[in-house]
Parts: sequence; structure tokens; C-alpha cells
Amino acid sequence: MSAEPATRVLTAGARASEDGARVLAAGGLVAFPTETVYGLGADASNGQAIARLYAAKGRPQFNPLIAHVLDLAAASELAAFNAAAQLLAEKFWPGPLTLVLPKLAKCSVADLATAGLDTVALRVPAHPVARELLARFGKPIVAPSANRSGHVSPTTAAHVLGDLRGRIDLIVDGGATPVGLESTIVSCAGAPTLLRPGALPRETIERTLKASLAEAAPRDRPDAPGMLASHYAPRARLRLNASGVQAGETLLGFGPAADAALNLSQRGDLIEAAANLFSHLRALDAKGATVIAVMPIPREGLGEAINDRLERAAAPRS
Ligand code: TXA
Ligand code: MG
Repeated sequence: MSAEPATRVLTAGARASEDGARVLAAGGLVAFPTETVYGLGADASNGQAIARLYAAKGRPQFNPLIAHVLDLAAASELAAFNAAAQLLAEKFWPGPLTLVLPKLAKCSVADLATAGLDTVALRVPAHPVARELLARFGKPIVAPSANRSGHVSPTTAAHVLGDLRGRIDLIVDGGATPVGLESTIVSCAGAPTLLRPGALPRETIERTLKASLAEAAPRDRPDAPGMLASHYAPRARLRLNASGVQAGETLLGFGPAADAALNLSQRGDLIEAAANLFSHLRALDAKGATVIAVMPIPREGLGEAINDRLERAAAPRS
């Protein structure tokens, strides 16, 4: 892992957005206010930046992230909008509503950010500081709440600094966030379903849809530990901590490995391995692997989340 960055704090304004956009383009991490809570932003298309983001938050698991964009047109480049999604987006964006939608093939959001899922969570924030950063950067920004894993969501720059000092590059201080509660998350991948209650009341959404929102099964709620049911599962079986490859197996390497079909990180780097995890599993699935033998991954830093994900994928399925 790289040396600790010194965390700069800049008051919101043109210079801070310009700086923020530059840091994001270089793969760095920038905290910024939205109308709900402060988000910790990274370039949505940069897998290694996203791996660093998980490391900074100390996430024990790779929960999928929300991609923030400037408007519905930008969102339509990433995901498929059905009639309900279109209606909700037109009515409530910009604002504290996140839509979970089927990913388009051309979706630029990295596999690690969507935890390998076929869906992507999208939000158009209303906060002027978030919008200015998005406009300067010109591309989608993934941003979970800017707190250490397990802590409450931050509503001031001081909260962010308290949690993430020395772990991120820049905090854009735009004062206290007006809402203070996270966005409401609705899936429109099928029948509209409430995944997380939040700043936009359910009744308001239902009035617009002229229909009730379905209730997510407890195991499908985003904040459920591990979100097991909605995680990507490879078709192939997995054999973990493999020291070598056996007949009929395909080897997923970590570190030097001559006979690996794919390697998570030839140089044994956990950030690089995290960035490659979901895309490599998908690629081996697509090649028709029946058993993927995975070399041991050390359980330090991001290795904990990588092993957590692999263990879930290796667990017997019904
Ligand atoms: O107000 C907010 O939504 C803030 C600001 C920064 O935008 N962000 C936020 O992000 O609360 P986070 O990462 O703390 O919560 C996002 C939730 C996670 O629980 C995640 O599991 C869920 O969204 N999520 C993301 N993508 C998903 C997907 N494709 N399917 C289901 N749930 C998803
Ligand atoms: Mg959060």
C-alpha cells in the first residue's frame, strides 16, 4: 500500500473543484458535500482508485457504490431506464434519490464499483459543490458516504477529517450538508423496489408512480451484512488457497504464477488484485471454466475483503 497521503482541506469554490477534478483524474480520493451527506469520491472508471477507496474506508466487504452524474443524459450512458425509472428520474433528479438499474454494455463504471453486479446505482446530486466537481471532472464519480466503515455518515468536513485524515487526498469543505440523511434507494431493474429508505419519502415516490413500491427481502437490503443474495456469483465453482492447478481446473493467480489463466496481480499487489477481482472472475466464467482454483491471497489490507468475496463465491449454493 502507498504511503499515507496528507489530507488537504479546501473551502468550496472554483479552485477547490479544479483541484478536486485533477486529483480524481490522477486516481486520487476527494471528499465532497452532497445535499444528503459527504461522499468520498473516486473516478468511477478507475478500478485501482476504487480499490484505494475501499482501503481508505476500511470496508471489510466490497459493497457496490453509487455512481454520481450531472444529469439524466449522463446517466443514460450507463444504464437502461424503463418507464418507471424515467418517470422517477425526471421528477426527482437532481435530488436525494438513487436508482438501481441494469448496466449497459458500454457502462464505464468499473466492475469493482458495482461488485460485479449486472446493475449500477445512479444518482444526480443537487448540491452545487457536488455539481461543480462533476462538471469539472466531466465523468461519473463513485462516492460512498465519507466515513470509516461502521461509523455514521458525515455531514460536515470536520466529521470527514476525523474519520479519514491521512487516508484520502482532499476534502472540499462546503459546510454542513442540508439533509443529513442518505438518499433513498429504489431498484427499477424489475418492479420498483425500495432498497433503502432515505431522504426522499416513500410516499412521495409512490404518489409519482401511482403504485406501491415493493419491499426488498431483508437479505437484499443494501445495508444487510454482505448483501449476499444480490452479489455476483460466478457460474464456475471455486477452490480457494490453491497451491497449484489440478486436472480440469483453471488457475486464477496471485503473485508470480507461470500456469495462471489470469492473474489478479503478478506483483502481489492487493490494490491491483481488488481492481481485477470481479472482471477476472467474469472473464474466466465467459471462457467456460468449470472450476477456478484461486491462489492464496494474504489477509491484510484489502486482502480481507478479497477473501470475504471469494469465500462467498466458493460457498455451496442451492
Ligand atoms: O446519499 C447518499 O446516497 C450518499 C451520498 C454520498 O451520495 N451515498 C451513500 O453511499 O450513502 P453508500 O455507499 O454509503 O451507500 C450506498 C448503498 C450501499 O448500501 C450499497 O450496497 C447500495 O447503495 N448499492 C449500490 N449499488 C447497488 C446495486 N447495484 N444494487 C443494490 N444496492 C446497491
Ligand atoms: Mg454509507
